[in-house]
Amino acid sequence: MRVRPATAGDYPAFSRLFPELAVGDPTPDEVKWRGDLVPTTLVAEEEGEVVGYLFYQALSDTGYIRHVVAAPARRRAGVGRALVEEARRRFVAAGARRWCLNVKPENTAAIGLYESVGMSFQHASTALFWPWVAGAALPQSPSVVARRAEPSDDAEVERELALAPGLCADFRARAGRVLFVAHDAGRVAGLAIYDTHFDGALPFAAREPAVARALFEVMLPHRTSGASEVQLVVENDARLTSALVDRGARVKLAFCHYAGDLRFPVSSST
Ligand SMILES: CC(C)(COP(=O)(O)OP(=O)(O)OC[C@H]1O[C@@H](n2cnc3c(N)ncnc32)[C@H](O)[C@@H]1OP(=O)(O)O)[C@@H](O)C(=O)NCCC(=O)NCCS
Repeated sequence: MRVRPATAGDYPAFSRLFPELAVGDPTPDEVKWRGDLVPTTLVAEEEGEVVGYLFYQALSDTGYIRHVVAAPARRRAGVGRALVEEARRRFVAAGARRWCLNVKPENTAAIGLYESVGMSFQHASTALFWPWVAGAALPQSPSVVARRAEPSDDAEVERELALAPGLCADFRARAGRVLFVAHDAGRVAGLAIYDTHFDGALPFAAREPAVARALFEVMLPHRTSGASEVQLVVENDARLTSALVDRGARVKLAFCHYAGDLRFPVSSST
């Protein structure tokens, strides 16, 4: 088996493997594959056949693994570990000190893999469907202002909202993303990294429901799909999750954030 950078021509393999993530999202189309995923995707290949892939973001201090899939017929044969270890090598070479990812709590195979490379549970997060019309039921606050986030906002936003440094810049460079920041009385109070093609915000952070409302108002004109709901990923914030669920959000899935130190001893089987 060898692990190599993905190419545009790997799309058929990617589109076969992506549904294995079982997150209920449509398979990204070939345009998104080429423009958004290929540059930071690794594939595992055996005798010329792609048997797995891993999509990541290499942030300044953190390697963020977004997808890992091993072909169903090749599970438990070291594909996932080989991909994760190659990602580790790349993150270390890029100067990162930690790595992280999200995983469904019932995914024992994936959790086994991540724990074996030194990651541990950090917090719970939730993906929600939010009906755009429900924004009108959220409270308003005169002290809250939302607007497009500029690169000069990034460092403060990431610090205030405990996000990985470099996350905003990485997403800003990806096609179709628009970033919004909200301030409450001049202090950073929320962020939405809105993927206008997918119609989802990852992450969606708001210290108060009024902040969420202000973010929805600035996001709405950028919607491209015409869908009645937007997806939100609310990280480590049970209070905001319940506030949104109480006002009409539907839970899509719950997941766990795992993270670890990249200097954890490399697993013996590699
Ligand atoms: C998670 C996944 C990528 C693991 O890939 P894999 O190639 O089967 O895993 P590996 O053979 O490299 O196994 C590495 C380690 O993971 C753990 N592991 C893998 N499968 C496991 C299982 N079924 N049960 C428990 N632990 C498991 C073990 O610690 C294993 O090490 P070991 O074999 O030395 O005991 C694979 O199960 C998969 O593609 N699942 C569907 C997609 C998915 O859920 N991706 C993760 C999204 S967060």
